[in-house]
Amino acid sequence: MKVLNDPYGRKFKTLRVSLLNTCNLNCFYCTMGSEEDVVFDHRLQKSAAFFSGIISRLHEQLDLETIRLTGGEPLLYRELPELIRNLTLIGIPKITMTSNGYLLSRQAAALKTAGLQAINVSLDAVNEAVFFKMAKRRHLDKVLNGIEAAINEGIQVKLNAVIMKGMNEDEIIPLVDYAFSKNIPVRFLEVMSMGHLHHESDKYLFSQQQLLDTIATKYNFKRMPRATSATANYWQTAEGNTFGIIANNSEPFCQDCSRLRLDADGNMYGCLSTNHPIAMDSNDNDYVLQEKLQLAMNQKQLHHFVGSELSMLNIGG
Ligand code: GTP
Ligand code: 5AD
Ligand code: SF4
Repeated sequence: MKVLNDPYGRKFKTLRVSLLNTCNLNCFYCTMGSEEDVVFDHRLQKSAAFFSGIISRLHEQLDLETIRLTGGEPLLYRELPELIRNLTLIGIPKITMTSNGYLLSRQAAALKTAGLQAINVSLDAVNEAVFFKMAKRRHLDKVLNGIEAAINEGIQVKLNAVIMKGMNEDEIIPLVDYAFSKNIPVRFLEVMSMGHLHHESDKYLFSQQQLLDTIATKYNFKRMPRATSATANYWQTAEGNTFGIIANNSEPFCQDCSRLRLDADGNMYGCLSTNHPIAMDSNDNDYVLQEKLQLAMNQKQLHHFVGSELSMLNIGG
């Protein structure tokens, strides 16, 4: 097997797969927050066989450690359990997902049976009114029930909370309290300069230091060593609870990034900030496939995250 490395020694070990670019929530920082329901056409989704075909070929070349299924919202993908089963058969060691959790409660058991090991659930507020302000949807209880169901199934759960100045900073302590009461880690994300916030994310930025200062009003904690390729910095409280910060802005982590991305149409990207799709085809011979991977690796060398006109909805977090 040819293992690709860039001059900084980075390898591709995690593949993030966006299964579709529609979502049932409307988070302000992502889709701009309209109250309208999103209409989507299931026929536009690529099949589980399509994704498994490409992923299987990438796994042969890269010996992947983790697949992270994202979207849009991956729970809207109609063949989700089937795809997860296929990925376990291909031999992917760890299958994870990032989801808004809205449709999780009734799918948790089937996903666990199929082989899903871990899920990061986005939760920006535990107060119904603030949840509505952030996601333009009611029924926060659906997300909380989803989290509960996943924990009960033995799926490892972490929470992702994007904190925006003037929007939800009063939710920081309630989110920490909620996560600790469930014995799960919560990670706070600095807002990224993407999509419609591309040129104005600064005015909403609530920084890693501000997050730490806020949490310190209630908890004592110490920083843990940073794992290679991790997106988050982690801290542990005196009681042994963990929280993290994804400091996209204050402490960018591109230098040890090991992520490769596949979008909902089967295009590959070596970096979140590139706009140059590499179309994948499971019938490519090894030579062509390796050329494409080299191209993706070159994107990695060239780009550092400076923002993107695209939102997470299209790129898949
Ligand atoms: P874990 O393995 O659970 O730590 O997953 P993760 O943090 O990689 O996955 P998740 O989908 O929860 O991503 C959370 C956030 O990390 C995303 O919303 C982005 O803000 C950030 N992130 C993920 N990948 C990248 C990347 O390649 N570059 C940058 N700059 N940010 C990223
Ligand atoms: N800045 C920071 N985080 C974002 N997410 C989506 N858009 C942004 C943004 N502009 C988060 C979601 C989810 C993760 C995949 O990305 O809330 O937790
Ligand atoms: Fe949907 Fe995630 Fe975008 Fe929110 S951030 S609208 S949950 S894709």
